[in-house]
Amino acid sequence: MAPIYCMDDLAVNGGKPLHRRPWRTGAFHIRAEIQALEKLLSGPALPMARGPAVMALREQLQQQYGMRYAVPVSSGSAALHVALFAAGVGAGDEVIVSPLTDYGSIIGIFQLNAIPVFVDVLPDSLLMDVSRVEEKITARTRAIMPVHNGGYAVDMPALMRLARRHDITVIEDCAQAHLARIGKRFLGTYGHIGAWSTNESKHMKSGEGGFCLTRSKKMAEAMDLFADKCYPRFPGAPPTPAFPALNVRLNEVNATLAAVQLQRLPRWIEQRRMFGDTFAADIAGVPGIAPMAQPRQAAPSYWWASFTVDSATLGVDAVRFCKMLSAEGIPAGANLQGYVPGWEVFRRLHENPAAFASYRPGRLEAGFYPEDCCPLAQSSGTRLGGVRMTQHNTVGEARSAARAVRKIVSALSGRQV
Ligand SMILES: Cc1ncc(COP(=O)(O)O)c(C=O)c1O
Repeated sequence: MAPIYCMDDLAVNGGKPLHRRPWRTGAFHIRAEIQALEKLLSGPALPMARGPAVMALREQLQQQYGMRYAVPVSSGSAALHVALFAAGVGAGDEVIVSPLTDYGSIIGIFQLNAIPVFVDVLPDSLLMDVSRVEEKITARTRAIMPVHNGGYAVDMPALMRLARRHDITVIEDCAQAHLARIGKRFLGTYGHIGAWSTNESKHMKSGEGGFCLTRSKKMAEAMDLFADKCYPRFPGAPPTPAFPALNVRLNEVNATLAAVQLQRLPRWIEQRRMFGDTFAADIAGVPGIAPMAQPRQAAPSYWWASFTVDSATLGVDAVRFCKMLSAEGIPAGANLQGYVPGWEVFRRLHENPAAFASYRPGRLEAGFYPEDCCPLAQSSGTRLGGVRMTQHNTVGEARSAARAVRKIVSALSGRQV
């Protein structure tokens, strides 16, 4: 019989923490990276564009994801930017995007002088509500950008059915969802382009970096040109720059790190999955707490082990619940993902006619983006919690985390759960 807890038993109230060992962590860069860098640096001067490490990484990515073309770039933000360009997004076009994301999803939209259009999230996953995308589609919609936050899957089969009906390009933001799947198919391979970040916080880390994958030669070439000054560095490229472009190439050093990390990635994801699946199974049925709702056959890659908190049932919100969980020795946090329409930049767009001159006149009056345009996403900070975890955490720790959740809910509800 599990013990019955009262409020005084909670560590946040001075009780004994349920998990008393240090939460496991470890190195995120490995010896093989040092060896690969030594080899790289003992050769000739590093080439700036399409060097051997970058070209090898392309092939490795193509093989890992079973996609025809890979375009490595300097960051996840750059990956999304070049993907938007390849999708033909330009001045005044609209891009439908999740309001819960990193600025990296939005930067490219702004830089192309296009208009982000936010669609609210589902209450039980805090991911794009695909059933509400259609009402946002207009004659100006050029792309849809679902964001697979926390390694959890947006319902891509449903989104792709809709996108095909309207002939709209889909760019999947997979920055937080390396090797996540629905069924056998990786997220990022449903849409026309998938875009990933390999910054320091992601499942695989190369310091900085990002990449796009696509099946379309045309889109791959457009991304390559846009990312590399539109210089003629592959057969068929225009002989001189044919359109304004960027320099956001990935370099040889970051590519070398990424290549080693990519080799280890499947094992790391399995380790994360053992933690995440165990935690989700063990908290199922706890009143007021729910594991993330996911499409059938989804296999998240768990950037966090997330859950929702129903404050009406428990009398505390996710922020307080995560504080209680942390006191029990389980590192947890709420406010996991920024609510983008709440940011200052959206309060001020109308003040800057020069920067946004190509937006359609009359559309960007003050209040064009009401702060509460996506109420479910706006309140996500108080409803979404997550246990912090990496490949270093164990199934035993996942079980501890779930026991701590049950302990807190038992104390809050006055009955054993
Ligand atoms: C969902 C999401 N999209 C895009 C990005 C941008 O990636 P980067 O920081 O590599 O530019 C991030 C990174 O934090 C992210 O989490």
